[in-house]
Amino acid sequence: MYYPDELVEEVRSRNDIVDVISGYVKLQKKGNSYFGLCPFHNEKSPSFSVSRQKQMYYCFGCGAGGNVFTFLMEYENFTFVEALKALADRAGVELPEQDVSAEAKEKFRKKAVLLEINKEAAKYFYAQLKTPRGERAYTYLKNRKLDDETITSFGLGYAGKQSSDLYQYLRAKGYGEEQIREAGLINVSEKYGAYDKFNNRVMFPIMDANQRVIGFGGRVMGDGEPKYLNSPETPVFDKSRNLYGLHRARTSRRPYFLLCEGYMDVIALHQAGFSNAVASLGTSLTSGHVSLMKRYVREVYLTYDSDGAGTKAALRAIPLLREAGIGAKVIRMEPYKDPDEFIKNLGAEAFEERISQAKNGFLFTLEMLERDYDMDSPEGRTEFMRETARRLTEFDEEIERNNYIEAVAGVYHTGVEELGRLVAKTAVQRGLARPARRPAQAEKKDRGKENGRVKSQRILLTWLIEDASVFHQVRKYIEPSDFEEGLYRTVAQLLYEQYESGAVNPAQIMNHFTDEEEHREAAALFHTRIRDLESPREQEKALRETLIKVKEYSLEDAARNLDPADIKGLQHLMEAKRSVQDLRKLHISVN
Ligand code: UTP
Ligand code: MN
Repeated sequence: MYYPDELVEEVRSRNDIVDVISGYVKLQKKGNSYFGLCPFHNEKSPSFSVSRQKQMYYCFGCGAGGNVFTFLMEYENFTFVEALKALADRAGVELPEQDVSAEAKEKFRKKAVLLEINKEAAKYFYAQLKTPRGERAYTYLKNRKLDDETITSFGLGYAGKQSSDLYQYLRAKGYGEEQIREAGLINVSEKYGAYDKFNNRVMFPIMDANQRVIGFGGRVMGDGEPKYLNSPETPVFDKSRNLYGLHRARTSRRPYFLLCEGYMDVIALHQAGFSNAVASLGTSLTSGHVSLMKRYVREVYLTYDSDGAGTKAALRAIPLLREAGIGAKVIRMEPYKDPDEFIKNLGAEAFEERISQAKNGFLFTLEMLERDYDMDSPEGRTEFMRETARRLTEFDEEIERNNYIEAVAGVYHTGVEELGRLVAKTAVQRGLARPARRPAQAEKKDRGKENGRVKSQRILLTWLIEDASVFHQVRKYIEPSDFEEGLYRTVAQLLYEQYESGAVNPAQIMNHFTDEEEHREAAALFHTRIRDLESPREQEKALRETLIKVKEYSLEDAARNLDPADIKGLQHLMEAKRSVQDLRKLHISVN
């Protein structure tokens, strides 16, 4: 979705950053800035600062920073557009309807109707729970130790015994049979016509990250098959991309999720204060779930059932998470079946203890692997260590691999060096080490060069942002086009424009980056501290060198792309190369 820059800027400027953040963090004025406890990491003394003048925030402890949009994106886990909408709402700025194709509009409208129907159904089920007809369901939930607050906050309800109550109710609200069927709430048969899908069940509405009801699970009270009946997939309910409990877990202050299997597990955990619990609802974890979680956390604690199926699910989930760069740990529920029963029997404190004893995913995998070997015999142990070595070869990064080798050696009482040699030998045998080494190194070198280039551009940009006098001294030599295409060049262009018009406004520059990753990267530009330790002389030297590097890289590019027949271009390039010589002699003074 695209909104014009002026509108984005209007929304930003009408939401004073100090006012907005004060709604979340207690701030105190100190000098020109406001300080508080950083909401993005745990701390005891305030290192989170907000500047009214710059309309930016920055944490000296963890490096989080940005403008008012960034703050909402980070705190509420909003996308840029979601942050924009929330702030437009807050300031009473009206956002225009977006121009979209008729087809897209129709799809959007249809989804909106399905969401509406789901919401109506959830309200209906919830109301039923409090009627005499729903008494048994209410008692059922009470017997499962849920308190009223929990029942309300998860919107639990009851689907009655009559075969088409909900259907009639929704029809009376004006929805058509086809719409209700598409929402997955009824079945239609030739013989009986339309009848409710959920009968005499306790109902669990499933919400997406934005608290919209997208489907339901319904549990029989007592025994019966199936234990849980769930909504089918619909245009608004994609099981592989939603997690139960996410609407609450997303704002939990813990930096990891507790991933469990069932509805009741999530609810029991939340009630016990673990508001970071989510569940994939009996379906096995997909890459869709993984990337969804990656929006919010970098670590996941698997809290699956303690039976064989739960263990198997954990063993499947660990590599899937690792591939996505999410660390996996495993929490054991023994002697109980699942988190719900664990909490019910041992309470929150004991669960907290299990969290602190969570096992590293890889070591857990090995522990399970032990079962396939006769660990009491030398042969069995040797075979086991061979298989372990094979798995260790799968860590590409040397440091990580070595850390694991050390950890494994510790657990299984073998020498670190011996194990290291076994891993190296296994890698050679598997044909990994040799052919992999050369390209891997070449690639690294390339990346190193790329990094050097990006790094000098970043440092220079940060310098230009921080120090107007530096900008005026170097603008003769460096243009926005000397920065590589994309984020840096855009920031440079905007910055040059702002300097021309007299005022640098970092918060406004931030508006241009609506993609979350980009937004964060741009925010970092405005906060990188380059000048903490060095004397002015050293700084001047560093700045000159950075300048030369950026220019040289840019000329290298220009030379590579130059058409040999372009005489003028060639001349221009020669001149530019000479000016690099001037740069070497340039005296720059820094403030
Ligand atoms: P479990 O069988 O472990 O049930 O299924 P549970 O969560 O412990 O349920 P309670 O405590 O007996 O009420 C785990 C999850 O698998 C899905 C549900 O999402 C359930 O929460 N499931 C299970 C189904 O969808 N259908 C079923 O028939 C059973
Ligand atoms: Mn259970």
